[in-house]
Amino acid sequence: MVDSIIEKALSGPRALGAGDLAVLVALDDPAEIGKVREAAYGLKCRYSGKVVSMRGIIELGNVCAKDCYYCGIRKSNAKLERYTLSADDIARLAEIDAGQGYASLVLQSGEVEGEAHTRFIEDCLRRIAPLGLGVTLSLGEQEEDVYRRWREAGAERYLLRIETSNPALYARIHPESHSWERRVECLRALRRCGYQVGTGVMSALPGQTPDDLARDIVFFGEIDADMIGMGPYIPHCDTPLGRTAPELPASERLRLGLNMISATRLYLHDVNIASTTALQALAPDGREQGILAGANVMMPNITDTKYRRSYQLYDGKPCLDENALMCRGCLERRLALLGESVGYGRRGDSPHFLARTSAKAPSA
Ligand code: 5AD
Ligand code: FES
Repeated sequence: MVDSIIEKALSGPRALGAGDLAVLVALDDPAEIGKVREAAYGLKCRYSGKVVSMRGIIELGNVCAKDCYYCGIRKSNAKLERYTLSADDIARLAEIDAGQGYASLVLQSGEVEGEAHTRFIEDCLRRIAPLGLGVTLSLGEQEEDVYRRWREAGAERYLLRIETSNPALYARIHPESHSWERRVECLRALRRCGYQVGTGVMSALPGQTPDDLARDIVFFGEIDADMIGMGPYIPHCDTPLGRTAPELPASERLRLGLNMISATRLYLHDVNIASTTALQALAPDGREQGILAGANVMMPNITDTKYRRSYQLYDGKPCLDENALMCRGCLERRLALLGESVGYGRRGDSPHFLARTSAKAPSA
């Protein structure tokens, strides 16, 4: 069964049906999982070589207007000290990122809307533009005009997870005021503004089925995503969802997260897929396992360590005390053990985005 699914997957992008994807996501036989990961890793190597692209991530603030039931920085979490970095801090961290040779940068924060915030981000983008980094924003839902202004100020990529493609499940893990439809509309707006668009989901959510996860992967294809960032759900004790124990033990949540990476690689072939910190929270080598399952991007945290405890989206988030330099050495060593190197000096644009945009360009 798995052999024929792999063969079909390797015949071309989007060859699999939702039924095939559900089988891949639910796999728990080690031998079958091994075959699937090997095929997915082979595809990763075909498109990106034995190289992992790095983007330093700056968690620039934890002020958040949203109240997602699973997230540690939700606005109702009164236990949290809120912070926002200054433009100087952000510029300094961006220089550190460039100094590490990462060539790409992610700016992430809680969701804030409004002119003052829009302008603040614009200013930051203009300040860091001379560094020539590939800049990704992960700043939540915004008006299209705001996305356009940030694009014009130098951001080229945007990550906005749909969290789940199932609107009914979305409604169970968010307050009524949060709209699944608006999130989809934001993803479309980002496309119109010319970004490399990233989305993603959480796996192992309460009540989520393999069919839900298979449809998530089909959704990535429908949106024609260039980048995927996803990871297992991990409870946070100060959230409504985190008060109940997770349905699955850590080892199974890790397996699901890795199966999702492999299935997404086998379905979409040429997108960038991040091996996320949530995997590392479940196993010390979780991110390396993510690479071997088909991911090709890592996002080491370069936020100053004094702020990291205030950006705990979930319990047990790793690397609270390691600074950027320690992360770099640690990652490089861990990847070398897999025969993978760090893509220093390479921006690591999504091959899918490059193919999609060059296909559209008029031939010279
Ligand atoms: N477990 C795992 N991922 C989480 N996120 C937020 N809270 C959690 C959690 N408890 C993810 C969401 C969000 C991203 C920034 O972090 O998917 O989009
Ligand atoms: Fe929605 Fe943090 S409050 S992901």
